[in-house]
Amino acid sequence: MALDGRVVVVTGASRGVGAVLAQAFAEQNARLGLLARNGEALTELAESLPCEAVAVPCDVSDEAAVDAGFKQIAAVFGAVDSVVVNAGIAPASHRAHKLDAETWRQVLDVNLTGAFLTARAAHEHLAASGRGRLVLTSSIMAAQPRRGLAAYVASKAGIEGLARALAADWAVDRICVNAVAPGFFDTGLGTAFLESGRLSEQIRARTAFGRFGAADELAATISFLAGDAASYVTGQVIPVNGGYGLT
Ligand SMILES: NC(=O)c1ccc[n+]([C@@H]2O[C@H](COP(=O)([O-])OP(=O)(O)OC[C@H]3O[C@@H](n4cnc5c(N)ncnc54)[C@H](OP(=O)(O)O)[C@@H]3O)[C@@H](O)[C@H]2O)c1
Repeated sequence: MALDGRVVVVTGASRGVGAVLAQAFAEQNARLGLLARNGEALTELAESLPCEAVAVPCDVSDEAAVDAGFKQIAAVFGAVDSVVVNAGIAPASHRAHKLDAETWRQVLDVNLTGAFLTARAAHEHLAASGRGRLVLTSSIMAAQPRRGLAAYVASKAGIEGLARALAADWAVDRICVNAVAPGFFDTGLGTAFLESGRLSEQIRARTAFGRFGAADELAATISFLAGDAASYVTGQVIPVNGGYGLT
């Protein structure tokens, strides 16, 4: 079990991919800190998991709340060993010239600044761990955008740069920092594509495996990057996309 005995923090754990990650990590005997805004959903999830889990309602774009959340989790478990930065939003599409600045800022605030604030709050704990792991969630869209998602695409491209920058900064602290770039999954934000008829067919046709991914397939790669076995992997972006673009 890749995460056996680790204290793992997952942001955006209240639903979608994050909730599946929490379940998968719990089954690997991790202890979990769960962050998202919806405290009720987090508490319900924490109580349902077969492991120790603490629910911390928190907006990742709120600097003070993120810092306090990590302090709370570290106080409960005595450590934080791995952090999975998963929280993200992708508001309704507008082609770039019709995208209002408020939406642009909101997406960048949550997806990119939120990731930075999470990573920064985690640093002292990951450094103290001596085997710290930070895994950031990018998207296939960072490299292969779809129309109408400029802010989301820019935020995810930023995530990949942030992963490399943090990997360089934190190698001295023996913290491995990597990103995953998921393709199209049948959970969370991916359901809009899954349920979109023609678009869904296009995506399947472009995916070598001919199907959307299941979130536990993403959990497997993230578990590797968040665990001991990834000790010589840092600054990388790992695509998990069923061979999108090969067909
Ligand atoms: N599903 C896919 O096919 C796919 C593909 C590529 C990449 N991704 C990435 O995977 C990650 C998870 O996406 P998902 O599909 O699971 O989406 P989702 O179902 O919409 O879940 C998003 C999660 O982020 C949390 N969140 C949103 N804004 C937040 C904020 N300001 N502060 C704290 N938490 C916040 C939400 O919880 P609250 O609303 O309770 O705060 C929720 O738990 C995202 O980074 C997304 O870009 C997903």
